[in-house]
Amino acid sequence: MKALVFGSLNIDYVYQTPHFVRKGETLASTAFARFCGGKGLNQAISLSRAGMDTYMAGAIGPEGDFLLQELKSAGVNTGFVAQLSVPTGHAVIQNTPDGDNAILLYGGANRAITCQMAEDVLANFERGDLLLVQNEISDLRAIVHAAKERGMRIAVNPSPMESSLIQSILEDADFLILNSLEGTQLLGEKLMSQEEILEKLSSLRPYQKIVLTLGEKGAMFACEDRRFRQPAFAVNAVDTTGAGDTFTGYFLASYFQCEDPEKALRTAAAAAAISVTMQGAARSIPDREMTRQFLMNHSLCMKKT
Ligand code: RIB
Repeated sequence: MKALVFGSLNIDYVYQTPHFVRKGETLASTAFARFCGGKGLNQAISLSRAGMDTYMAGAIGPEGDFLLQELKSAGVNTGFVAQLSVPTGHAVIQNTPDGDNAILLYGGANRAITCQMAEDVLANFERGDLLLVQNEISDLRAIVHAAKERGMRIAVNPSPMESSLIQSILEDADFLILNSLEGTQLLGEKLMSQEEILEKLSSLRPYQKIVLTLGEKGAMFACEDRRFRQPAFAVNAVDTTGAGDTFTGYFLASYFQCEDPEKALRTAAAAAAISVTMQGAARSIPDREMTRQFLMNHSLCMKKT
């Protein structure tokens, strides 16, 4: 089984700031670094480090070669990433001392993806292969519908949320992985508890595998009458950028490796916990051995207490 991530590749410009810039404020940052990022690239690296045979499709500009190198060194096949003459997408990220972030996106080449590019890429995949998408590229609806027609399994991480677009592809999704803010936006309701969001989403599509990520509170899973909850592992977070992407890739890879959503949630929570202890998005995604060790240490701790 092959996993295709059709998604964004970004250059992340990360600034350490004492707090998020406020309206009208000029704020000095205390440090700066440039990293590989983009939800698509991060999730492809996560899937690959978690052991899936992973392919990345998307687009970069002339200055994006180092993004391809990062993907290749994580074992991702980059043969379906087009190099165009428009600038590579980028993100301006503020990272505060408590590890929180605020992200401003510029789509660039990510928004130059066309239906024709999608058709050409999807011709290389078949029934049963996995397509994983987020919402940082153009022509998302056409990509998802074409993949569904080929019999591919579809996983949607609807981030950044754009309710009407996401509604139009949800019917095709086998997996929906989203956070609680995205859940309330998608449902068009306010002030719902996490349990209510999950139940409402699940009642709309009972056969869909839904994962609601809750940041430092962990994650929940629903499908038909099965429900699981996984608390987050307690770690010292320095940068939460890309933690959701790490979780998404690891959850899907683990799910396909063991078909056990409870185990997949736990493995994904461990990988995400490791990722927040390091700076950067893609570079902080752990490999399988690190994640296995982390899980072993934590199960030993749990047995001792
Ligand atoms: O999810 C984190 C990612 O969101 C960053 O790497 C940034 O590029 C944005 O796409």
